[in-house]
Amino acid sequence: MPFVASHARVGALENFIYRHVDSARTILDIGCGDGELLRRLSLHYGAQGVGIDIDPAWRSARVDGVELIAADYRTWERPQRFDLIVAGSVLHFLDMTDEALLAKLCGHIAPGGSIVYELPLQNISNRFVIAARRLLRSLRGPLSDKAITMAGRLIYAGKADRAFIEERLGYMYFVPFRYADFSAKLEKSGLRLVTETVAPRQSIAELYAQRAVRVSTRAGTPTANARGPI
Ligand SMILES: C[S@@+](CC[C@H](N)C(=O)[O-])C[C@H]1O[C@@H](n2cnc3c(N)ncnc32)[C@H](O)[C@@H]1O
Repeated sequence: MPFVASHARVGALENFIYRHVDSARTILDIGCGDGELLRRLSLHYGAQGVGIDIDPAWRSARVDGVELIAADYRTWERPQRFDLIVAGSVLHFLDMTDEALLAKLCGHIAPGGSIVYELPLQNISNRFVIAARRLLRSLRGPLSDKAITMAGRLIYAGKADRAFIEERLGYMYFVPFRYADFSAKLEKSGLRLVTETVAPRQSIAELYAQRAVRVSTRAGTPTANARGPI
């Protein structure tokens, strides 16, 4: 089942983007899930929307004016730059070096364009959740799956259906490949931090994330690290 973000989550990220990004003619949503946020953003800005998600449940399609592509961003290639890149809660899923990811992002952002992303913080609460996930991962079996699913039903009682909770199961074993300190590296690539905030988590099993906007400072010319998609 593809990732379907909660309404509260899509709304919060959407409002954050509207507050900080004035215009966009082209939008790339990395890890777009069901594409709902991308559809809303494309409509709001009157932009060409391209969404990419690794989930095999997504077949390449154009829905309500946006192009949804089922592919792995790590290997996806398209020689196009976007005014707005959205990466909601996804960069920490990308198992590649920070340098390769930076080169890829810089190859996709248009001069003066914005990247809005969320990455987990390394605060005490997250450290605790991640330690718990590591432990669960080492014990993973039908019993732990069942226990997590039952806990999920309690936590989300009345707020989510069975399919939603089952889709989230894999995330409870997931340990991020990167954290918010990745943001410091973006500065060296010609990207300026415009704003950042802490995105509240939706449940105690989720991670607190840094939500940030970075803008390419190389207006009119390609960004410093732009090598095109790799
Ligand atoms: C936690 S969900 C976030 C979904 C949405 N961006 C949001 O903000 O609600 C992470 C999404 O990233 C996708 N994803 C994970 N690894 C990916 C990759 N290598 N390339 C593209 N999408 C990926 C997953 O399939 C999932 O839909």
